[in-house]
Amino acid sequence: MRLLAEMQGARSSALQLLLLGCCVCAVAGYPFKVPLDLDVTPRITVLSSGLQGCRRFQSSAVNYSTMLLETDSERLYVGARGAVFSLNASDISASSALIIEWEVSPEQKRQCLLKGKDNKTECFNHIRLLQRFNSTHLYMCGTHAFNPLCAYVEEERFVMSSQPEEGRDKCPYGPTTGYTALIIDQQMYTASQYEFRSFPDIRRNSPSPTLKTEDAPTRWLNEADFVGSTLVRESLGSSTGDDDKIYFFFTERSEEQTTTYSHSRMARVARVCKGDRGGRLTLQKRWTSFLKARLMCSLADYNFHFNMLRSIFVVPGHTSQDTLFYGIFGLEWKNVKASAVCRFSLSEVQEAFQGPYMENQDSDSKWKEYTGKIPDPRPGTCITDALRARGINVSTSLPDDVLNFVRRHPLMSQQVQPSDRHPLLFRRTTDYTRVAVHVVQGLDGQKYHVLYMGTNEGWLHKAVEVEGRLHIIEEMQLFEEPQPINNLLISEKQMSVYVGSPSGVVQLPLSNCHRYTSCYDCIFARDPHCAWDGVQCVNIISSEARSTLIQDIKRGSNGCENTQDESVQRSRSVRVGDDVLLQCELSSNLATPLWTLDGSEFQGYGLNSGFRTGTDGLLIIEARQDQSGLYTCYAVENSIKVAVVTYNITIRLDRPPPLPVNPTEDPYSLFATLSTPTEHPSSEKPLPPPPAPLLPHSELLSPRNMEAMYLSLITILGGLCVVLTVVLVYVGFCLRVGHRGKYSLRAAAAAYPNSKKQSRKQHRNSSHMELKTISNHCNGNGICNGVSKHHNGDVEDGGFLQIVPGEAHPSPNKEPPPPAPPLPPTPQMCSPECDFRNGLSATLPSVLRRMNGNSYILLRQSESESTSPLCYSFAEELNRILEKRKHTQLLPRPDESSV
Ligand SMILES: *[C@@H]1O[C@H](CO)[C@@H](O)[C@H](O)[C@H]1NC(C)=O
Ligand SMILES: *[C@@H]1O[C@H](CO)[C@@H](O)[C@H](O)[C@H]1NC(C)=O
Ligand SMILES: *[C@@H]1O[C@H](CO)[C@@H](O)[C@H](O)[C@H]1NC(C)=O
Ligand SMILES: *[C@@H]1O[C@H](CO)[C@@H](O)[C@H](O)[C@H]1NC(C)=O
Ligand SMILES: *[C@@H]1O[C@H](CO)[C@@H](O)[C@H](O)[C@H]1NC(C)=O
Ligand SMILES: *[C@@H]1O[C@H](CO)[C@@H](O)[C@H](O)[C@H]1NC(C)=O
Repeated sequence: MRLLAEMQGARSSALQLLLLGCCVCAVAGYPFKVPLDLDVTPRITVLSSGLQGCRRFQSSAVNYSTMLLETDSERLYVGARGAVFSLNASDISASSALIIEWEVSPEQKRQCLLKGKDNKTECFNHIRLLQRFNSTHLYMCGTHAFNPLCAYVEEERFVMSSQPEEGRDKCPYGPTTGYTALIIDQQMYTASQYEFRSFPDIRRNSPSPTLKTEDAPTRWLNEADFVGSTLVRESLGSSTGDDDKIYFFFTERSEEQTTTYSHSRMARVARVCKGDRGGRLTLQKRWTSFLKARLMCSLADYNFHFNMLRSIFVVPGHTSQDTLFYGIFGLEWKNVKASAVCRFSLSEVQEAFQGPYMENQDSDSKWKEYTGKIPDPRPGTCITDALRARGINVSTSLPDDVLNFVRRHPLMSQQVQPSDRHPLLFRRTTDYTRVAVHVVQGLDGQKYHVLYMGTNEGWLHKAVEVEGRLHIIEEMQLFEEPQPINNLLISEKQMSVYVGSPSGVVQLPLSNCHRYTSCYDCIFARDPHCAWDGVQCVNIISSEARSTLIQDIKRGSNGCENTQDESVQRSRSVRVGDDVLLQCELSSNLATPLWTLDGSEFQGYGLNSGFRTGTDGLLIIEARQDQSGLYTCYAVENSIKVAVVTYNITIRLDRPPPLPVNPTEDPYSLFATLSTPTEHPSSEKPLPPPPAPLLPHSELLSPRNMEAMYLSLITILGGLCVVLTVVLVYVGFCLRVGHRGKYSLRAAAAAYPNSKKQSRKQHRNSSHMELKTISNHCNGNGICNGVSKHHNGDVEDGGFLQIVPGEAHPSPNKEPPPPAPPLPPTPQMCSPECDFRNGLSATLPSVLRRMNGNSYILLRQSESESTSPLCYSFAEELNRILEKRKHTQLLPRPDESSV
């Protein structure tokens, strides 16, 4: 009785959690209309357990945030908290790692604490800068418990070559302050808001003359958060005798008055000339060539702007004019997850710097375009041949009126638009933190850009750009513990991508073509590194016979027409009245399952048809004799039907077929009743603890009770959704007034998130579905995080396979499906060898003997357990199903069991 009460308690708290989650999700609903066709789904999901060729480096240190790759010495230098490492770039896990320990002393730590700094993050030495200084030395800076220091490192012996020196004007004080630095020709360019109270600044530190940005009368930078910088050698091949330039990328508080946007922060690009020496009287020790412009990354049709620049990657071109910048952008709203990728060309940036200036008349008003006379030479330009011809060979010779103009007009009016005027990629529910780009030549001779993007939850997405869109080839879970990816580097020589994170460094091959097992799989992947050679999917670099390879990056469909069908064939005989699950798991998230019976397509899978389809198979409910036949599962991707598995099912009236004598002879067949032995009154085992607190225990509640439970649950959910709709209409209305955008109501079908993959598939497969859920937005808030811990949780309608009786399945905006039939008692014998982790036990023979019309028969296609005893496979299968059931019940980490 007490247990019963506990179960009900657990259930009601589950209900509370669910209702709360529902509310929060609904209120935090997406504040804009989402262009679904732009929201890209990764084709393959690889969990950390399935990563191949992955090498890891870990030590007692944490926060591996800075990385420097030296291709000549084949070393990867990594700066962490209190230590710097030198790793073998071809295998970072090799034992040859060298270390420089650089911790703060207890005294320094005490002083840091006295300053009121955070003892968990700030009072350590976080390495923020690690770069080559000259041919023999590296230079590094650390926050050093809020007292930055810098030091030279002798590369050969990997030791600090001298005592650390003052780093206050080169390095930020905190570990997370926006910061970027470059050492060019032994001159150091840094940008940061160094101390908490100081203004942000772009500096050239050493040697003198030190140059800075101006703070008065016009502040050139406003709360700028720097993400990157790069040198572009524009002097090379310049017809005008132009100078090299340094570009800085950041997000800052916006100043300009615009009619269309009401954003407080904006992404920017700024630049200075490398040869700048400052002015003589005006702008003394200040840049004379500082200009900045806005970087746009918008879904203009939806009046939706990504304002926060998170990462930038520079792809050099043949000439400096062909330089491209890839930017990762996010939203200003902290609780809404979304990312966009935009690409900019240097020529567009240069055009903005050639255009009109902005101006503000008095410091209180907003900035507007300046329409007056522009002094000559043009303010903010570098020293060119034309100026030298006029006797101005250095910036100190620039006339005063030009410098005065520069001082008050740092901002350009023209915005830098992305190539093709739209983002290459847009993703809800993912916060990308970093991007790196590798240029690969495909078999068609074209250069393809392959992007590696790290998320804030430890995943790496690999995508290829085709005609202005990104196709995400795969998503890889690099860390089991969700953690932000801090850094990404690519080595073409090592064919590796290096990933820095709080817990360690990971080295991955740039591609893993062997993952694709068939010609279609290889083609659909659209990985420029990979091609089908007739037998397997190979890396095109390692293949000699390039002419015979098959690859189709542009469309991802052509070339495999003549390959033979390699689908699996299975034959099974089952009894009338059994529920039969025909498994068919598709590896691609972009594929849709399609089933045929004796060659003809199913017309519908409704409850009355006697069939249900789920993401992992087809369920025949209470099989009838006329349902015998050949069932074929196809994966449909890019409009191509590829057979995956065929089952020859014979449904008979008589007793079930005899059990094979040797279970291993028949590894593909697995018969299971999904019932719990605990309900057997004569069970001699003590009552095991419930597998999961939120799991409904049908054996403890009578079917009638359960029915009442579900009815009330559905009633409550229905009522709740009416309330939510009203709230959403109201919130939507308010937001519309505020943002001028278009908003659509998103129904709250989020209550029962299941696995990521399932939900994703449901989203894609159910074109009939008008109502979208908002569950995918929940990741931004605590409550829903518990539900869907990982980054993806796209739209779902909850139409997944109901394999477990007694499972509620609400879908509040549709008619609630009838409650699943309660599980009748199925007495079972227990055997000690087959005890399961979760307290359930069964032996296969007894299970089979007691099979009746309400049990399920599972026909496995997996070949992995062919050597294991049947009892083990069954245990595992049952565990898997129970795991799945748990995950549909509001438990965190839905991904693991079902993806
Ligand atoms: C450093 O690592 C710890 C633990 O891995 C993490 O909690 C913390 O947020 C990290 N700090 C920074 C600045 O990345
Ligand atoms: C780096 O690792 C590779 C592969 O393990 C090995 O062949 C090479 O000798 C190592 N280099 C050094 C300097 O240890
Ligand atoms: C940090 O400070 C808090 C409160 O002052 C203290 O409880 C905690 O133990 C300290 N942690 C460390 C790592 O010193
Ligand atoms: C590199 O810089 C270091 C530190 O200033 C200096 O000691 C060393 O001599 C320099 N090496 C060369 C080759 O100039
Ligand atoms: C600039 O030109 C003047 C003469 O016109 C010359 O004396 C000076 O050295 C030049 N400076 C530079 C940096 O070239
Ligand atoms: C399916 O199995 C039945 C019974 O085992 C057999 O008679 C029939 O020929 C099989 N059909 C196919 C197409 O293999």
